[in-house]
Amino acid sequence: EQGRWEEERLKTASLSFGAKKEREQGMREEQERYQLILEEEEMIEFVTTAITMKGTRSEKVSPRFLLNPDQEAHALSQAELKKQSMQEVRRSLPIFPYREDLLAAINEHQVLVIEGETGSGKTTQIPQYLMEEGYTNGGMKIGCTQPRRVAAMSVAARVAEEIGVKLGNEVGYSIRFEDCTSERTVLKYMTDGMLLREFLTEPDLASYSVILIDEAHERTLHTDILFGLIKDIARFRPDLKVLVASATLDTERFSSFFDDAPVFRIPGRRFPVDIFYTKAPEADYLDACVVSVLQIHVTQPPGDILVFLTGQEEIEACCELLQERCRRLGSKIAELLVLPIYANLPSDMQAKIFTPTPPGARKVVVATNIAETSLTIDGIIYVIDPGFCKQKSYNARTGMESLIVTPCSRASANQRAGRAGRVAAGKCFRLYTAWAFKHEMEETTVPEIQRTNLGNVVLLLKSLGINDLIHFDFMDPPPHETLVLALEQLYALGALNHLGELTKLGRRMAELPVDPMLSKMILASEQYKCSEEVLTIAAMLSVNNSIFYRPKDKVVHADNARMNFVVPGGDHLVLLNVYTQWVESGFSTQWCYENFIQFRSMRRARDVRDQLEGHKTPPTPNTHIHTKSLLSLTAGYFYHTARLSKGGYKTVKHQQTVYTHPNSSLFEEQPRWLIYHELVFTTKEFMRQVIEIESAWLLEVAPHYYKSKELEDSSNKKMPRKQGKAKEELG
Ligand code: CDP
Ligand code: MG
Repeated sequence: EQGRWEEERLKTASLSFGAKKEREQGMREEQERYQLILEEEEMIEFVTTAITMKGTRSEKVSPRFLLNPDQEAHALSQAELKKQSMQEVRRSLPIFPYREDLLAAINEHQVLVIEGETGSGKTTQIPQYLMEEGYTNGGMKIGCTQPRRVAAMSVAARVAEEIGVKLGNEVGYSIRFEDCTSERTVLKYMTDGMLLREFLTEPDLASYSVILIDEAHERTLHTDILFGLIKDIARFRPDLKVLVASATLDTERFSSFFDDAPVFRIPGRRFPVDIFYTKAPEADYLDACVVSVLQIHVTQPPGDILVFLTGQEEIEACCELLQERCRRLGSKIAELLVLPIYANLPSDMQAKIFTPTPPGARKVVVATNIAETSLTIDGIIYVIDPGFCKQKSYNARTGMESLIVTPCSRASANQRAGRAGRVAAGKCFRLYTAWAFKHEMEETTVPEIQRTNLGNVVLLLKSLGINDLIHFDFMDPPPHETLVLALEQLYALGALNHLGELTKLGRRMAELPVDPMLSKMILASEQYKCSEEVLTIAAMLSVNNSIFYRPKDKVVHADNARMNFVVPGGDHLVLLNVYTQWVESGFSTQWCYENFIQFRSMRRARDVRDQLEGHKTPPTPNTHIHTKSLLSLTAGYFYHTARLSKGGYKTVKHQQTVYTHPNSSLFEEQPRWLIYHELVFTTKEFMRQVIEIESAWLLEVAPHYYKSKELEDSSNKKMPRKQGKAKEELG
């Protein structure tokens, strides 16, 4: 029986979308089969947990839960929601019946851990309750952290709307390179990284009455560091309320970390979700997603679909494929609205996922794991889960960091499935086998602090005067060697002296809201007198994967347009060239359109650049700008040096094999020495964004890191090159 779904799926791949009657007939049959599978398949039982305030509070069940699921589904149907006023919607959230108890608990305890199902109202309601209760009197702020930028923005927008104020006034958000707050802001949503930076200017967070660390279960690096810092300041700020909110059942960990703080549980409202697995592993999960979406669309009752993919590129590809298929099928199928959501998506596009689906149509949201717990989209009944996510992985021995698509954890998979059961009983289609779920997936995701480069936070902690990092109060300590390596790297960059103390340069580096290598590159550019160019490069790197637009039906034109931007020296200089030409066009939209450049990305790059510009010293006119820019890049990224060797490149220090990306302007050129911006592992370990350098530069910018012996054999081919030459094959 387990194979049924798989068979059905394959059948749908070649489904002839025949007469309506035939389809209805097929739909009935299919539904019956699903029913059958459903009984045989493994099922996750979603139950309503009663509220228990650790040790002190007794069980309490909201009258809502006395409704049967059908009634409940009806009560929450889209049409109803539309009719209800915002305030009524607020009152219908699972958290609402516990408003008074929650406020009493917050009043009573300095630190409170709050556990509640995704969508119960933690993020949008708790800060409002606190505001209504007077926690913002006297201009005191309530801060709420989010691991993801998109969540901070969209939640702030929602809350501003609920309160009826303009976003940026009483309710605002702050994310890197974008501050949407004002003097009047008292409810401040922000990324965890931004709150961390606020410690630099306000070490005791004196302007805040409450800090809500939200999405604590995500265990991002910044959230983990916040735990330690906030636990510390809470000791000498008894008036500060600390709330730790989490979606999953890891709350005991948070409780014990915060000296056994009480846990407040908000009972969830969940409907059963039937889980379907595939019989055999999927060779191409992107294709499997597309087929599954269409299958659901033609065979299943109304309800929106949520698909989990790993990143922007995949999401765009999936959306494109879906749209193409729908276009071909035309009126043979009902309308399917295809909506992407990922971090770099412009906010007007992001907002679209929340608009209700018109009657007769179906919405499919293709998301990164942002939709796992950070964002709640109403109306989702079907979830498609290929079982992958993109993760940072870090080799503490070599210092190499890379983004890898890996299987997600069982905890993640279950969160994803849960998204289908929020408004009614739902279905989750897992594009992997039940066996893989049991045997190949980890129970939980490893906290980021244990798999990332710590350079950034070590620099920040040093700037906060925290010198003893070994004894910092980590919830889960990072590997010792990772800490040591971060210190070594900061020393080589000149941010720390040989005693491990912050240098003047280090202090300035910490002030820049970017990673140490990038901030060193920017500061070095002052010395080489090429700040204008290097700032542009830095800004372009921050949006680098979404600059060139390559529509399927105009691949040749797009590639030609891209090749026209190629200049000697490497990808960073290509990015600089694109930006410079855009400036010359007067920041023209038309110019972007004609050159297959994403206007939105360019606009964002300009914003980032403006932000970074505030930190630099005034420009001086100069010559040899490209070489100097490359030197500045080298001063920041000398760790990322690779040398040409048989069949590819090898990193200089650790002899790791890496490759230039086919998209790179230096793909064919194969210069002897390269510096890369980042590594991305797909089929191979690819270097993304590379420049050509001379090995002698390494001795100039990092004399305490490189010895000339290491850089021998460098017959240092100079830089003569065929102008504008680029590879045939693009991506
Ligand atoms: O934080 P938690 O997952 O507990 O829930 P929330 O983010 O506060 O969301 C509560 C409800 O607000 C959701 O169920 C959505 O119905 C609604 N919401 C929305 O409609 N649009 C948003 N941008 C955010 C939330
Ligand atoms: Mg939330």
